[in-house]
Amino acid sequence: MKTNPAISRRRFAGGLLQAALLAATAPNFIPLRLLAGENTPSKKIQLGHIGVGYQGTNDLRNFLTVESAASVAICDPYRARREKAAGFVRDAQHLEPVLYNDFRELLADKSVDAVVIVAPDHWHVPMGLAAVRAGKDLYLEKPLGHSLEQNRAMLNTCREHDRIFQYGTQQRSGEMIKRGVELVLNGYIGELQRMEVWAPGGTSGGSLVEIPVPPGLDYDLYLGPAPMRPCTADRITNKGSWYCADYALGFIAGWGAHPLDIAIWAMDSDTKGPISFQGTGKTPTPNGLFNTCATWDVNIKFHDGIPMHFMSSNVAEPLVKPYRLDTWESNGTTFFGTKGWVSVSRNSYAASNPAWFKLKTCEGTKRVLYHNHYYKSFVDSVRDRSASIAPIQDAVRSDALSHLSLMAIKTGGEVVWDPQAYKIIAPVELNAQMTCEVRGDWQQS
Ligand SMILES: NC(=O)c1ccc[n+]([C@@H]2O[C@H](COP(=O)([O-])OP(=O)(O)OC[C@H]3O[C@@H](n4cnc5c(N)ncnc54)[C@H](O)[C@@H]3O)[C@@H](O)[C@H]2O)c1
Repeated sequence: MKTNPAISRRRFAGGLLQAALLAATAPNFIPLRLLAGENTPSKKIQLGHIGVGYQGTNDLRNFLTVESAASVAICDPYRARREKAAGFVRDAQHLEPVLYNDFRELLADKSVDAVVIVAPDHWHVPMGLAAVRAGKDLYLEKPLGHSLEQNRAMLNTCREHDRIFQYGTQQRSGEMIKRGVELVLNGYIGELQRMEVWAPGGTSGGSLVEIPVPPGLDYDLYLGPAPMRPCTADRITNKGSWYCADYALGFIAGWGAHPLDIAIWAMDSDTKGPISFQGTGKTPTPNGLFNTCATWDVNIKFHDGIPMHFMSSNVAEPLVKPYRLDTWESNGTTFFGTKGWVSVSRNSYAASNPAWFKLKTCEGTKRVLYHNHYYKSFVDSVRDRSASIAPIQDAVRSDALSHLSLMAIKTGGEVVWDPQAYKIIAPVELNAQMTCEVRGDWQQS
């Protein structure tokens, strides 16, 4: 295991001691972990944050608003980032979190009830599996896995260990998005006939010029399961995390996860039988650092024949703008039915009958699980052992749509998927691509 020499292999006990010392010298700081191991109604759920870059810091700051939780541990192989994140905890909760370079040490910390994993995508499932096996509940950022097999392993392992899983699809706490989904479920649009789903596309370029690894970055641990490559300025930013194929599928999964999740929330036909995928996509700089698919245009057909047109926003714009008009956004999900349509995006919505969105509660009995505070909802589930509002099975379903769309683009032909058997029916050779390579001994399933 490689650790950052600057933090000199701090172990759990050492971290505890340091936290206690800091607490003792800072009168406003409450000593940490006095409640560890207890499980009383007044106990705060103790969170460990793994990955505190751009989104990890956003998620941390959202969790810091949840009174029933305490952020007791932070891990990032980038020292400056974990130290900066610790400052937010101090300011908000007057707690001194224990800082870790290596997430395995955080997972061994028995006082951490649940973890919030916000490392780059290729880390999600290897870390998620290790967390669940260590007995932690899991808030895992989207997208799910780097391969379809990783997703299956994550599902099975969550079930086997009976852990709470909440996916990082925070749009489920958007009230108007929830309302749109319930309009669809309760038949306002009549029978569902087709869907349009779109998300921002990717980018091109990215620096390939080698630079020295910045001080305070444990580069080997940063790359983890990904291939060892020269460090470049863009590789170690979130553009690298989002657009480089070593770490991600690109925005077809990274951003696609959000509007696809909303489609999955409102339908279950993808659980019943084969789904087919056919489409095209472009990777502008296949030899650059940002070498993932940047634009896509995929036709998906569900087992009951319902089509979904899944597109990058540049492809969607001429199709969607004519009916979204001044509510056009670069992401969204539209449900077209026999009696009308409903369309929701992150910050806007529209319907063939605008009065539908004015209804506080729509008629009909179908309701989705909803909480207006996405992060509190996770903490509540951990404490009460209640159902997650974004469970692992939905994450597996929506993420499969991205993986299989990309496979269809790459093969140039039709890909047929059997969601129940969890395998590719045609072309069968593609089943060999349901796994991904992992460097060293990083376990993936
Ligand atoms: N839900 C959303 O709306 C949303 C928005 C942005 C990003 N995300 C997701 O969040 C994840 C992170 O994206 P980002 O933009 O924050 O990227 P980022 O590069 O800014 O942050 C990733 C962080 O993970 C850290 N990291 C790398 N290896 C690690 C390890 N072994 N242990 C602990 N930490 C490690 C990095 O040092 C970095 O600080 C991605 O999966 C992305 O898809 C979600």
